[in-house]
Amino acid sequence: MDKNKGSRTNVIGAGEAGVAVTVDMDKDVIHKTNSLFWDTKGNEVLGATALPLYGAFVSEENHRLLGDVSGKKILEIGCGSGQSLLYLGQGQRQPAELWGTDISGNQIGKTRQLLAAHGLSAELICAPMEDQCGLPENYFDIIYSVYAIGWTTDLEGTFARIASYLNKDGVFIFSWSHPIHKCVAAEKDTLVFKKSYFDESWYSVALGEDTLSLTDRKMSTYVNALAKAGFIIEQMVEESDEDLLKAQGDSSDFAKKAQVLPVTFVIKARKL
Ligand SMILES: C[S@@+](CC[C@H](N)C(=O)[O-])C[C@H]1O[C@@H](n2cnc3c(N)ncnc32)[C@H](O)[C@@H]1O
Repeated sequence: MDKNKGSRTNVIGAGEAGVAVTVDMDKDVIHKTNSLFWDTKGNEVLGATALPLYGAFVSEENHRLLGDVSGKKILEIGCGSGQSLLYLGQGQRQPAELWGTDISGNQIGKTRQLLAAHGLSAELICAPMEDQCGLPENYFDIIYSVYAIGWTTDLEGTFARIASYLNKDGVFIFSWSHPIHKCVAAEKDTLVFKKSYFDESWYSVALGEDTLSLTDRKMSTYVNALAKAGFIIEQMVEESDEDLLKAQGDSSDFAKKAQVLPVTFVIKARKL
């Protein structure tokens, strides 16, 4: 199965990774690898990225992509440990319904516990985002995903499903690591282009004792898959928020890198 080896940088978020092994895109194997990763050490190794943040340096508070969520039916794809759902459920936001899906039973359990601890609840479904999982069609006003969409083994199929769950004019917002960030590593005071931007092959990489499988998609792959699923893009955010960058100062290589190239992208799309 192994084809070749190469180093990967920034497998997800800020972290540098070791040797990656190119693998075949076998959906079942990838799901098994990644759900085991998220069932066990996922949050310990990669942490959580959750609303109000879309990424390390992009905040909902600055961009207001979700807008007023009161009375809205909202679904999160890849809800992880539930912190974004908690953010939406708290205070004056008052959504009508909160729903979440995730491939990891452990993550779904964490979401349920977190929400219950704050007197909240959501409809939670443990299933891969690529699969039919009983979510209602033409139902949601907003579907969002924070650093989870990139895990799908079938981007076009996933976007088509998400479109089917949305009402007409419903909004889909998602964030992921920017493809340029995935190609460039900070080495001493230099940024080095490490891999082909066009390489979308799947790879497995060990982070400590744990393994995960991913692919790095081009920006055009996301844009074209959205168009094919019947979305129009209303807004895209690539730049880091000044206030969040300033708060970190020049303290990390990651913050320095984020001053000169995009590390996160967020797309707000609408179902036609
Ligand atoms: C980086 S976390 C993001 C979740 C959330 N924003 C957080 O920070 O807790 C990625 C999530 O995607 C989930 N995931 C990975 N592959 C998936 C798939 N194919 N379908 C659904 N969820 C998946 C993982 O279990 C994990 O909870």
